[in-house]
Amino acid sequence: SRLAKPSTVTFIVSRSFCKSSQAWQSPKVAVLGAGGGIGQPLSLLLKNSAKIASLSLYDIAHTPGVAADLSHIDTRAHVTGHLGPASLEACLTDASVVLIPAGVPRKPGMTRDDLFNTNAGIVRDLVSAIGDFCPKAMICIITNPVNSTVPIAAEVLKKKGVYDPRRLFGVTTLDIVRSNAFVAEAKELDVSKLNVPVMGGHSGVTIIPVISQANPSVSFPPEERKKLSERIQNAGTEVVEAKAGAGSATLSMAYAASRFTFSLLEAMAGGEGQVECAYVQSEETDAAFFSTPLLLGKNGVEKNLGRGKLIDYEMQLLDAAMPELKKNIQAGVDFVNKS
Ligand code: NAI
Repeated sequence: SRLAKPSTVTFIVSRSFCKSSQAWQSPKVAVLGAGGGIGQPLSLLLKNSAKIASLSLYDIAHTPGVAADLSHIDTRAHVTGHLGPASLEACLTDASVVLIPAGVPRKPGMTRDDLFNTNAGIVRDLVSAIGDFCPKAMICIITNPVNSTVPIAAEVLKKKGVYDPRRLFGVTTLDIVRSNAFVAEAKELDVSKLNVPVMGGHSGVTIIPVISQANPSVSFPPEERKKLSERIQNAGTEVVEAKAGAGSATLSMAYAASRFTFSLLEAMAGGEGQVECAYVQSEETDAAFFSTPLLLGKNGVEKNLGRGKLIDYEMQLLDAAMPELKKNIQAGVDFVNKS
């Protein structure tokens, strides 16, 4: 996170003097859906990081080419490509972090829920393989509808007896990244020093921008705050419409997922003060999953920092989010238990 930059010294010392094969010292990161619009630039950003020792790329298309291409870059990560379900075991074995951007994206006029029928099954099957081959890995789900795909993953892992709620994340970082960009632009602030939390879920009204907790603090007249909050909630649709049928956010999403991954890897290696918002199992509200700022640690969620104080307008957003969020969660739970 921006709150605490990675300590280069700690990283180099741990690599030079510790020879054991602990996962955090030579992390293997797997990307499932690595051939897609998000998967390819995300894999590039990960390959560009010295934090990753091994980068394992899986898809049902394109991965031999993507892996060959990335493997020619002269950075640390050793890249392997894996094609089709029979290669999942090799892809996932020993992975400490698994990112899932596999599945279909939205086209104009679609909501994230319209993706449920296709993507629910894809996530169920991929998470089942994670449960078999790397049950201790941190699982970061990008595939929409995130509000439902994360509960699907939890149910699959529960059935296998390997569910650890601290290690399962719905990646909502793009909402934070967008909020930072839009608020900084509106207030002419240095975007690199701004942090605007976004809570709740990851679709339409379930996205709750908490501008009142921006750091440094900013103030807006009510009408402007409302407009900005609604723009953040609908920002994905802005991209879907601008791409006019060619998909949804891919480049900004790849950036956001890489930011989340780097914070997580830093925390897993013992780095302190890594805080990111993500959609996790939660007791903050009566929805079983909810995004709030989280302190990350060696085992994933170290501490849920909670939703803090919300202003009246944000409480209204929370009230509006709850019925939809709970419905989305139930749909995910039912999908696994009734299919
Ligand atoms: P895309 O269609 O460009 O790529 C998806 C990739 O998944 C393709 O390469 C496809 O071959 C692969 N795939 C399909 N079935 C698979 C399976 N069973 N196993 C492995 N790979 C499989 O889509 P794009 O744009 O990369 O989006 C991917 C997902 O991410 C979508 O569900 C989209 O809605 C979601 N998304 C999430 C965001 C977030 O903030 N969490 C933001 C933007 C998109």
